[in-house]
Amino acid sequence: MPKVLISDSMSNIAQKIFEKNNISFDVKTGLSEDEIIKIIPEYDGMVVRSATKVTKKIIESAKNLKVIGRAGAGVDNIDLATAKEKNMLVMNTPGGNANATAEHAFALIMSVLRKTPFANETTHKGQWEKKNIKGTELSKKTLGIVGFGNVGVRLSYLVKGFDMKILVSSKSLESRKRDFPHVNNVSFEELITNSDVISFHCKAAPDGKPLITKEHYKKMKPTTYIINAARGNIVDEKDLNDALKENLIAGAAVDVFSKEPAKENILFNNPKAILTPHIAASTTEASIVVAEMVANQISDFLLNGKKINTV
Ligand code: MLT
Repeated sequence: MPKVLISDSMSNIAQKIFEKNNISFDVKTGLSEDEIIKIIPEYDGMVVRSATKVTKKIIESAKNLKVIGRAGAGVDNIDLATAKEKNMLVMNTPGGNANATAEHAFALIMSVLRKTPFANETTHKGQWEKKNIKGTELSKKTLGIVGFGNVGVRLSYLVKGFDMKILVSSKSLESRKRDFPHVNNVSFEELITNSDVISFHCKAAPDGKPLITKEHYKKMKPTTYIINAARGNIVDEKDLNDALKENLIAGAAVDVFSKEPAKENILFNNPKAILTPHIAASTTEASIVVAEMVANQISDFLLNGKKINTV
C-alpha cells in the first residue's frame, strides 16, 4: 500500500480521498527540515501547501518518494530542479484557487480605491474622517492585467459590470486572442503607461528579478494603483515604497511579500499601501477544491501511473 505524507494543514477531504483509495497517510504539519529528512524515506508521496519548503536535502533523502503534490498553484516552495534530477513528479492544482485569488485581487482594488481599511480603522476609533476620505471610482477606468492565466482571466470577467477597458500583457494571449474579445493584448510598456489599475497575475521571473523598476513608475500616471496578489518578488518592495512616497503612483495593495511570513517589511506603515498576509487563495471553497484535486491526482498517479497537472 502506498504511503503519503501530508505536511501542511489542508482540508481533510484529502485524507478522505486517500482512505477511499486505500492509500495510507500521515498528517504531520509544522515539521522542520531535519524532521522531514528523518521520516521522508517512508513515503511514496508528499502533499504540501506553501509552508513546507521541499528543499534539495529533503528530496535527496526521499529514497522512495515518487510524487510531490502542491495544493495550490505556485511551486516556488519546491526545488524543482532536484526533483527532476531524481525523477520525482511534481504536480500542482492549477485553477483550483483561481476564483478565490481573483476575488481577493478585486477586493484589494476596491479597498485601495475607496480607502476602506483607513475608513474602518478610524471609524472604530470614534474618529469621523468623512472629510478626509475621498475615493476613486473603478467604472470606466483602464485595468491592466499582467499575466493572463487562470487568475488573470477570471479577474477580467469579474470586472465586466464596471465598464472598464482591459489591457493585458501576456505572451501566451496572442494565440488565444479570439477567446477573449473583451481584452486588448498590449506590450508591457503600453500597459503600464495607460492603466489606472495594474494587477499582477503572472509567475515571478526565473532569476527572481522584479518586473517593474523605478523607470517604469516614472512612466505611469500619478493616479495609478498597483495590485500584487501573485508573488512577492514580482514587484520590488523598496521601489514600490519609493514610488508611493514620491507620489509617482497613487496607491498599492499587496498580498504577497519577498519574504514570508512578513514580520518586517519596508511597506509596513506606508499609509498608501494596503497589505494582507498572502490570503488571496484562502477561502473555504478553494481550500476544499485544491485538497480534493491534489489527493485525487496523487492517488491516480500512485495507483494507476496517471500524470495530471505535472509541472
Ligand atoms: C498559490 O500559489 O496557490 C497561492 O499563492 C496560494 C498559496 O500559496 O497558499
